[in-house]
Amino acid sequence: MKVLVVGGAGYIGSHMVKALHADGADVITLDDLSSGHADAVLHGQVVRGSIADTALLQRVFSAHRFDAVMHFASFIQVGESVRDPAPYYRNNVLNTQNLLEAMLAHGVKRFVFSSTAAVFGEPAYTPIDEKHPLAPINPYGWSKLMVEQMLQDYRRAYGMASVCLRYFNAAGADPDGELGERHEPETHLIPLVLQAAAGRRPHITIFGDDYDTLDGTCVRDYVHVTDLCSAHLLALRRLTAGDAGGRFNLGNGEGFSVQQVIATARQVTGRDIPVRVESRREGDPARLVADAGEARRILGWAPRHADLAAIIRDAWAWERRSSP
Ligand code: UFG
Repeated sequence: MKVLVVGGAGYIGSHMVKALHADGADVITLDDLSSGHADAVLHGQVVRGSIADTALLQRVFSAHRFDAVMHFASFIQVGESVRDPAPYYRNNVLNTQNLLEAMLAHGVKRFVFSSTAAVFGEPAYTPIDEKHPLAPINPYGWSKLMVEQMLQDYRRAYGMASVCLRYFNAAGADPDGELGERHEPETHLIPLVLQAAAGRRPHITIFGDDYDTLDGTCVRDYVHVTDLCSAHLLALRRLTAGDAGGRFNLGNGEGFSVQQVIATARQVTGRDIPVRVESRREGDPARLVADAGEARRILGWAPRHADLAAIIRDAWAWERRSSP
């Protein structure tokens, strides 16, 4: 099994390269290193370049016979996508189409796509299952939904099998301590909380405590990066067995508020974590919790690191390696 991992130097992609290697696959990473780190790719060859570069895609697909492609390379900041949508549509949609066309041109017809809970927009109900209406409220969510739509059409017209995995809040780090989250700038809650615990930030800012939730702060469904990887392996197995694919929500089905995350981080780290409350961040739904029943039933997915304290413990071990 030879797999091309696009964005394999990024947070989730680098964990995936490790998981694929452990599963016996031959992995090639394609990454432009605009936000990823070459030293995070623990196995296989790294091709430095962008999926915007169709000549490069042509060379990569001519040099290797891939059984499947996994695509993690995208811009992910919701607020930025509202202020400046053009790069989001260019990178997340147009460049992804380049990739799909290169796949078609070389007869590669299995694709696993990193999608997001942002395709649902403001939840009409929670937990969110796959029947929930698709109504993104920002360009980031739209860019992912557009690719989902393309994949549906490519499946019907060209027989390209694909699985879209809609992550809720990816979190945690490699339990072996070899990999973790290294966004620059970091915008995600758990790494920021842990940087505050480590003294690398003066405090954690809570974006709004006036939501209609148990303590007024936003509720999210945090899912361990290793569990996301296991869902990808199951998706790949299904595609390899001849399945046409589908779309699955990935989360643990349990929501934690920002305050609860901070309280758990205090327990895990034993550190005082100073908090400041500021106004709401634009575009944040009050509550995002997944119903991942279909992933469990159809893919056979069984998250093994669902406990929030365990997720934070792994992220903390990584944080302590990167900060003295
Ligand atoms: N938050 C804070 N302070 C911070 C950072 C975050 O209070 O310094 C809050 C946010 O307001 C939100 C929660 O913590 O309520 C989680 O925020 P993250 O930025 O960690 O994650 P999001 O839920 O905003 O975003 C994640 C992914 C996106 C994806 C979105 C919906 O990072 O790519 O889920 O799926 F679009």
